[in-house]
Amino acid sequence: MGRDVIVACDFKSKEDTFAFLDKFTGRKPFVKIGMELFYAEGPEIVREIKKRGHKIFLDLKLHDIPNTVKKAMSVLRNLDVDITNLHAAGTGAMMQAALEGLTREDGTHPLLIAVTQLTSTDQESMERDLLIEKPIDEVVMHYAETAKNAGLDGVVCSPLEAEKVHNRCGKAFLTVTPGVRFADGDVGDQKRVMTPAEAKKIGSDYIVVGRPITAAADPVAAYERCVKEFVD
Ligand code: C5P
Repeated sequence: MGRDVIVACDFKSKEDTFAFLDKFTGRKPFVKIGMELFYAEGPEIVREIKKRGHKIFLDLKLHDIPNTVKKAMSVLRNLDVDITNLHAAGTGAMMQAALEGLTREDGTHPLLIAVTQLTSTDQESMERDLLIEKPIDEVVMHYAETAKNAGLDGVVCSPLEAEKVHNRCGKAFLTVTPGVRFADGDVGDQKRVMTPAEAKKIGSDYIVVGRPITAAADPVAAYERCVKEFVD
């Protein structure tokens, strides 16, 4: 899998999701399924979207004791998703256990990536609520290194962090970056954003794009524009 645009299907139901995906006649975009849709529709939604020929990033951000995460990952393994994730804050032991659970009998596994610090966490809330007093950039890089040492394939990070992660963890360590907006588009609630072209320049491997595509007047044209800027 090379550089690609992942469309965040943040819909509340299967009907809304399929109404959206049906607009794409020629292309089969890489789709992100998050907690809302997964909890509403269950694992069947993954099977159905997969059957339609889409690649899937299942974004459930697991975080629990290693044994529980390992067992949960062995269930997700059977869904045959292409990418899934967890919180690096669960520690290296949890990430290693997760990878074991996700690994198939033939030794292959879906790409497993770690959330470092959520982009909704800032320096102040990290110090106040988590009692972590290091600079947030340093925390993100340390979590990325811990994920790499645990055998993970990459991290979810802000596009502004992607270059630093590659410098620290190597180019092969994947950076999956939300917070992407068109130069002439609405920023919405995302604070630190980049255009698809900028994300390409700094070396993001995958961009995750939601509302700039899902809420566009012409979602297919918006998707094509993303692909043109980021992939082509
Ligand atoms: O609509 P928008 O393009 O902001 O959607 C971005 C997607 O990426 C959403 O599904 C959001 O939950 C997800 N995400 C994010 N920031 C993170 C991790 C995930 O925006 N740090």
